[in-house]
Amino acid sequence: MKTIFSGIQPSGSLTLGNYLGALRHFPPLQDEYKCYFCIVDQHAITVPQDRSELRKNIKSLAALYIAAGIDPNKSTLFIQSEVAAHAQGGWIMQCISYIGELERMTQFKDKSHGKEGVSAALFTYPPLMAADILLYNTDIVPVGDDQKQHLELTRDLADRFNKKYNDIFTIPEPRISEVGARIMSLQEPTKKMSKSDENKKATIFILDDHKQIEKKIKSAVTDSEGIVSFDKENKPGVSNLLTIMSVLSGKPIKQLEKEFDGKGYGEFKASVANVVIDALMPIQEKYYQLIDSAKLDDYLDQGAEKATIVANKMLRKIENAMGLGRKR
Ligand code: AQP
Repeated sequence: MKTIFSGIQPSGSLTLGNYLGALRHFPPLQDEYKCYFCIVDQHAITVPQDRSELRKNIKSLAALYIAAGIDPNKSTLFIQSEVAAHAQGGWIMQCISYIGELERMTQFKDKSHGKEGVSAALFTYPPLMAADILLYNTDIVPVGDDQKQHLELTRDLADRFNKKYNDIFTIPEPRISEVGARIMSLQEPTKKMSKSDENKKATIFILDDHKQIEKKIKSAVTDSEGIVSFDKENKPGVSNLLTIMSVLSGKPIKQLEKEFDGKGYGEFKASVANVVIDALMPIQEKYYQLIDSAKLDDYLDQGAEKATIVANKMLRKIENAMGLGRKR
């Protein structure tokens, strides 16, 4: 059975982008693959986090994974910082990474641009991500388009390690969906929708209520043409809304263009909002049943225990291959 690993950062409330680019793809994989789903809290602290917000976001993300369809008895659902091998493996991956290749990571450039006091960890985040993946002999990593470059680095590091020390790592493949892999900001549709966007109108959060969703989509930036058609370059706002609607309704973009031919943006936006509300409300219902239940902690304990066994075994192999410590 092949293995899947995927992680999401608890760096804020989850967005429709995280859902469409990543989370939505996970539940159907559980019957076919051995799945590890991780709340990557150590990645979240590469930028400053408020302590109590972070705690809240970690639990919230765990509940959202389950509400979106992850079965913690089938998949291993766990918190990164509760499995020490991730940080240990991350250090080793840093040791085999080159500064030049980390400097080329566009996410580092974007997140550090114009900021003072950028953490060293923001720079070394990709080697930690490589360790997350490689510790589980992962075959496939389902991610949004923005993580493609980090995945390429992970493959390079695994290959480098295999050639230099011992052939122990599986080289993972990214799995990026064709539509919905990059949902854009509602206010600046040339920029991706992000949890940490300071402009809250730009982002639909999975836990937004239906009024908030309607309001945000109604005020989404479009253009003055008044024609519902897909043209990423010249009509990024309308194209983004069409993508969202297409992914959630299962209707091809061409069909939606026909459906809204001759209709204005007002009617189109109202329909997009309805489709988003219909998709998110059942998830929210399950989420609220779970978020304060003791069951959630039990699932996370069970996940950390299972992940620790697998990750420690690989860590030992890595350390032996490099000559760290004494042979065990
Ligand atoms: N806008 C997006 N469209 C499609 N997929 C997306 N993902 C993120 N944003 C979009 C995918 O969601 C998964 C989890 O992402 P992450 O939490 O690890 O970090 P991120 O990619 O940095 O996401 P955010 O929301 O932009 O977080 P912040 O604001 O904290 O940086 C990944 O598979 C990602 O591709």
